[in-house]
Amino acid sequence: MKALQFLTISGVFLTLTISCVQTEKMEKMTLRTAYADDFYIGAALGWGQILAEDSVESSLIKNEFSSLSPENAMKWMYVHPKPDTFNFEYTDKIVAMANRNDQFMIGHTLIWHNQTPEWVFKDGNDALIDSSALFGRMKHHINTIMGRYQGRIGGYDVVNEALNDDGTFRESMFYQIGGVDFIYKAFEYAAQADPEAELYYNDYSMNRAEKCDGAVRLAEALKSRGLRIDGIGMQGHWGLDRPTLEEIETSILKIRNAGLKVMITELDITVLPNPRNVEGADLSASFENNAEANPYKVGLPDSVQEALAQRYADLFKLFHKHRETITRVTFWGVHDGQSWKNNWPARGRTDYPLLFDRSLAPKPAYQAVLGVVGK
Ligand code: XIL
Repeated sequence: MKALQFLTISGVFLTLTISCVQTEKMEKMTLRTAYADDFYIGAALGWGQILAEDSVESSLIKNEFSSLSPENAMKWMYVHPKPDTFNFEYTDKIVAMANRNDQFMIGHTLIWHNQTPEWVFKDGNDALIDSSALFGRMKHHINTIMGRYQGRIGGYDVVNEALNDDGTFRESMFYQIGGVDFIYKAFEYAAQADPEAELYYNDYSMNRAEKCDGAVRLAEALKSRGLRIDGIGMQGHWGLDRPTLEEIETSILKIRNAGLKVMITELDITVLPNPRNVEGADLSASFENNAEANPYKVGLPDSVQEALAQRYADLFKLFHKHRETITRVTFWGVHDGQSWKNNWPARGRTDYPLLFDRSLAPKPAYQAVLGVVGK
């Protein structure tokens, strides 16, 4: 009798223990844990997030993401505002956070035509410098940053957005002064500065065949010069219907077939109207905000919420299918309130492009992304 009682009691205890463990397991399931065997799940952090101003948000960042990028802090104008002035305050903080949280840290970005100060291209008399002077400045910039964070930043967007949508080279100041050599030099300096860090080329509209071909050609040109490039980042500033999954998949395969890793960087899905048919993420593209362009000021209708969840599910199914090739999927922000999409391509709109809402609650799209891996 006593033995039976003992068995029953320990049975109840065992059941209780199992269900506690299960609840705990369910509570702990996050983007980071759900995709742990597949690829990193990253987020770009804004200024306040880097300062860890909100402790609830800081724990969400730690629990949900396995990779971090600075949304702005490492761009030339902030990190290196004057020839002999570097400002590492924010970069030091985000790198320390990523290292503490065991998150793969991304250096975004070393060489980009936007958010780079004018002095980089000019001499003391306001005249354009020549290519060797420009390369000298790039080398100093790259060495100083990569040297400081050696072993703590895992991968860099060495060059960002150097191509036009048709795959030709963008006529940026870097290109006007240095020609295509500015790209080769950037990769050469980066490989020397930190031989362990992964080196990437990153761009938007990589779903476009001509642009993707241009990026692959560029990677091949780098390799044929004995230079290292480890992967290509496809920025994912996309919409509910465009680009198509087929277009995205074709580009993933092209990059893979060139022997490179693929990263989906800067993912966000706008739900807002696009009267000008702006594609990609060219900062100079913009249009006027008006009532028609900003229809969800007071909230997102359920039907659109559902469409967003479905779009995220479809995208993550595709990413998961290519998990051998894709090493990271990074969201361009943590929550809707912070997203740059509220101000681009039209200023002052209310967009809903990410997985967490303005109060940091997970949206149906979040569940949809977990659902892809059955979590
Ligand atoms: C954006 C930031 O999100 C904004 O805060 C900033 O005002 C402009 O830049 N492509 C990139 C990112 O590589 O660095 C850009 O980020 C978005 C487009």
